[in-house]
Amino acid sequence: MIKHLIADRASAIDASGIRRIFNLAATLKDPINLSIGQPDFPVPEPIRAAAMHAIDTHKNGYTLTQGDPALLTKVTDWLKLDLGWDCAVTGQGADNQPTAFITSGTSGALFLAFLALLNPGDECIIPDPYFVCYPHLATMCGAKAITCDTYPDFQLTAARVEPLINDKTKFVLLNTPSNPSGVVLSKEEGAKLRALCKSKGVLLISDEIYDEFVFTESLGDTAAGDPALKRCPSPARTQGADQDTLLIRGFGKTYGCTGWRLGYAAGPAAIIDQMSKLQQYTFVCAPAPLQAGVVESFDISMSESVDEYESRRDMVIERLSKHTNIATPGGAFYAFIEVPESLGLTGTQFAEKCIERELLVIPGGAFSPRDTHFRISFATNRDRLSQGLDILCELLAGK
Ligand SMILES: Cc1ncc(COP(=O)(O)O)c(C=O)c1O
Repeated sequence: MIKHLIADRASAIDASGIRRIFNLAATLKDPINLSIGQPDFPVPEPIRAAAMHAIDTHKNGYTLTQGDPALLTKVTDWLKLDLGWDCAVTGQGADNQPTAFITSGTSGALFLAFLALLNPGDECIIPDPYFVCYPHLATMCGAKAITCDTYPDFQLTAARVEPLINDKTKFVLLNTPSNPSGVVLSKEEGAKLRALCKSKGVLLISDEIYDEFVFTESLGDTAAGDPALKRCPSPARTQGADQDTLLIRGFGKTYGCTGWRLGYAAGPAAIIDQMSKLQQYTFVCAPAPLQAGVVESFDISMSESVDEYESRRDMVIERLSKHTNIATPGGAFYAFIEVPESLGLTGTQFAEKCIERELLVIPGGAFSPRDTHFRISFATNRDRLSQGLDILCELLAGK
């Protein structure tokens, strides 16, 4: 009776496939859960303490829309060290000058970017496979996300993107390291992708929410201001990128506080100012005491956790690559694994077989128009991961 009131932008989004899997999973008491997209370590103590102190000392009101000045300063200092960007004070930069602002999660930054950039009928290019939100954010704007096939190595290269750019294209969205594959785009390919976007007059958006989770062989660049600091390659670190690249990063995955909803966006002031204006009338600001908490994060090294994830990644590849094809994850905490053709199963059917064995994985169809793979997360303790891998080995071998 009420259904006729629902807007097309909501009804155009179909979440039934993945919901079916979650409904099935809800029938299990204590499954081995390799579906979770968040770290399994606690938020570091200094960050928790600073957030609690902020609450106790009554920093519970709004912050400026662009963020707590103390956090913004930390972010812009870090962008200078990491990328060599000289950010102007938010709201006061010339159009091409880089600026930054704090967002309600990385999702908040992505949503505001899509809103600020896409008119109905416009197109943007996203990788296939993609982070689940990407196509839906375009739909919500009345625009279309064009998927760029990156199988089987999951590299969003300029050569793959170029044929998809046309006069409706507003931006290309890169995600490195990638969800769902963990694949990291090399420094050279990132530079080529940025050069392509620049030459075609489209924006490059780089979603780098997993930038701190990069494994030894993929740390293919160094911070602009510190050659001793190994970093995830980023097209935002190439000469002049501060004038034509929109960078989006987050705190939730890096410090284990996904529920705090904190991220940031940085790029040309002409775009950031529009995003920040839209934030003012939607999210208003990111959670104030939690912003005060992550001010501390810039002095905390997560290298122990990253090393642990690297060793779990090695375990996943060692155990599963005998049975199927896996593009080696260079970062994040996911692997995107092919269902062997010989099994004759879609990713969804394979995930259902896993559920029968009390194991949760996400079917590739949640991340792609094709349903030939499944995603596991190795952000779960070693024993459970190992049990899960035993089951996967059996299922992949057709047992
Ligand atoms: C690639 C990617 N971008 C953005 C997000 C959203 O992150 P947040 O929790 O900061 O909104 C996620 C979360 O899984 C992600 O994997």
